[in-house]
Amino acid sequence: MIPKECKRLAEVDFPIAEVSRHSAREKSIRHGHPSTLHLWWARRPLAACRAILMALLLPDPCDDHCPKDFRNNARRILLDHPGRPEKWAKQISDDLGLRKTILSFIAEFANWDNSADPHFLKTSRDLIKAAHPEEIPLVVDTFAGGGSIPLEALRLGCETFASDLNPLACLILRVMLEDIPRHGPALAEELLRVSTEIKKQAEKELAEFYPGDSDGGSPIAYLWARTIRCESPNCGAEIPLIRTFWLCKKANRKRALQYRVLQTKGKPLQVDFEIFEPKSEKEVAPGTVTRARATCICCGAVLPPERVRAQLSEQRGGADVIFDSEGCRIGGARMLAVVTLHSSIQGRNYRLPIDKDYQAVYKAQKQLIEILGEWERSGRKGLSPVPDEMIPLTEIRRISVPLYGCTSWGNLFTSRQAMSLSILSSLSRSQSTNSTVLNPGVNRLLALSVSKQAERMSSLVSWITQTSAPRGSFARQALGIVWDYCELVPSVGEQEYSQLIDAMRSVIENLYIIGNVGQVQQHNACEPVLPEKSVPIWFTDPPYYDSVPYAHLSDFFYVWLRRAANPDGSLLLTNQLTPKENECVVDRPHRLSASIKNNEYFECMMARAMAAGRTLLADNGIGSIVFAHKTTEGWESLIGGILSGGLIVTASWPIQTERGGRLNAQEQAALATSVHLSVVRGRKMLQSVTGAKY
Ligand SMILES: C[S@@+](CC[C@H](N)C(=O)[O-])C[C@H]1O[C@@H](n2cnc3c(N)ncnc32)[C@H](O)[C@@H]1O
Ligand SMILES: [Zn+2]
Repeated sequence: MIPKECKRLAEVDFPIAEVSRHSAREKSIRHGHPSTLHLWWARRPLAACRAILMALLLPDPCDDHCPKDFRNNARRILLDHPGRPEKWAKQISDDLGLRKTILSFIAEFANWDNSADPHFLKTSRDLIKAAHPEEIPLVVDTFAGGGSIPLEALRLGCETFASDLNPLACLILRVMLEDIPRHGPALAEELLRVSTEIKKQAEKELAEFYPGDSDGGSPIAYLWARTIRCESPNCGAEIPLIRTFWLCKKANRKRALQYRVLQTKGKPLQVDFEIFEPKSEKEVAPGTVTRARATCICCGAVLPPERVRAQLSEQRGGADVIFDSEGCRIGGARMLAVVTLHSSIQGRNYRLPIDKDYQAVYKAQKQLIEILGEWERSGRKGLSPVPDEMIPLTEIRRISVPLYGCTSWGNLFTSRQAMSLSILSSLSRSQSTNSTVLNPGVNRLLALSVSKQAERMSSLVSWITQTSAPRGSFARQALGIVWDYCELVPSVGEQEYSQLIDAMRSVIENLYIIGNVGQVQQHNACEPVLPEKSVPIWFTDPPYYDSVPYAHLSDFFYVWLRRAANPDGSLLLTNQLTPKENECVVDRPHRLSASIKNNEYFECMMARAMAAGRTLLADNGIGSIVFAHKTTEGWESLIGGILSGGLIVTASWPIQTERGGRLNAQEQAALATSVHLSVVRGRKMLQSVTGAKY
């Protein structure tokens, strides 16, 4: 046993530079990386978690209280490590050299390329066994989210317990820590079998709503603009809300839209589009909307944000086309261009919309009415096929779509998207009940695949002109309106359903090598989840103050998960929306929000969570808390919480975990460096925590 007095490596030294480098690099790795299983916000890089965890688990060989056996065994294990550098043999004989060698190993193992290498796995596990010869240490993460910390604990051969308040996080955790280690390849195979069936059926049911082109081309995306009417007395023209007239900025395929204003007697002015090949930026007209202020391209009048919001609210966000009874478009969303693939032409092509494109949308609208009608006729049995749960206004600063009339989660989808997703959900649900052998695991994966698909099939997906590719609904940790959005075709291109399943299968293959099974529980981190003093390592990553409104964002997925999952209740999807009460975050204030989650709330909840962590920690246990924030308030609240909760900070390691070039400079600053604090039990927690206000 490591004596209480003995310092851990994480309290004395740490290879910050190398681990930062590996962490930053890991962000660009997609194939087989667990983050591709499903989106979760502010995931910590596995590299940083793995390295810190090892440094928490291992004693400092230079400490007088370090067990002698550990030093001897560690020397032997490291010298046996295949492919070790020559210099290890020279430096390892004295204690400082041993410390240096362990740190080099930790730094090397942080490399993603080594993470599944059997030699690295063996050496790390052997070192940990040498430090904990009596029993395998238990690692607990009470804010586990997307599961980076518990996954690394399993990799290092530890017993692992992960909990989170959020049901989507728990679903992801269950798949990663329980289903994959338990079933591995069999799970991947069953997923492939069942999803192939779903895909076949979905393609059959959806084909008429996504027709191919008569010249053999296949549309992969429809580019749309929401529209409003110019309110200038003599104009009344339709204003397509367009951020940019560019369609593609790739050097060899520059394409953009240009327009003509048409005058027909007795009718408002009209705008006609053409696709052309601009030679320079100057030839492309500026967009019609910036910061919710719209400019009429016919008369130049400007509509203020209030009027834009009011007009879009009348159209429930305006992502749908308004047709007359004959199926002719009379308003609403306007199709700007269609992106197609063609076997005889290289790359992506852009064409103007034709009648057939609108007819398919009209048909889809009628089909959706049919689906909803059937549900009504059944006496509203089960959930409505399209999510009718309301979007709370609590996070209106970051989830601002209700200001534009998207008041329910279903309003974020065009009728065609909602119809497609409801068909996919119902196919998944019925396949779930049919699948027998690996029921729970496959059900969870199928439900996650539908919710993943929803992220790529909403009217908040935008078209990136630089790369000629879509950007998912969660490009930011927020849900703001997208004026000109991209409607993807679910059966072709890289957004295809089977590609998404392939990504899940790669994760299964990649993680299966880890072998151990963990334990997951939905739980509030402010209450101790295990017996007092039973935990040797408590390593956790609480929310970063006001950076990410997890529960609110996850509702986007949650409503589809409930529709796609087998309703046997085993997936923790029983509430209407994800629980917000008890979530440790600061909600950004707004006059429409009734939230009480301010600075004081956060500090109080942090203090309770820290006190709960302290309760779990064994006398000789050690904790680590990850935190990132750009403001003093954020840091003060965390530190206040740690001190009130009765913990003592013994070291801090800043790790640069983000690569550059992210979307939002503020988000980047907020999360670019995360600090890993090592903590141990202090004498006592403050009285105020036991009788806390929240
Ligand atoms: C920074 S994230 C954790 C990210 C995780 N380390 C990863 O790599 O994916 C913080 C997590 O705390 C969870 N959370 C917030 N309040 C909570 C509470 N009271 N109890 C448990 N979990 C909570 C959120 O749902 C979120 O998943
Ligand atoms: Zn006008």
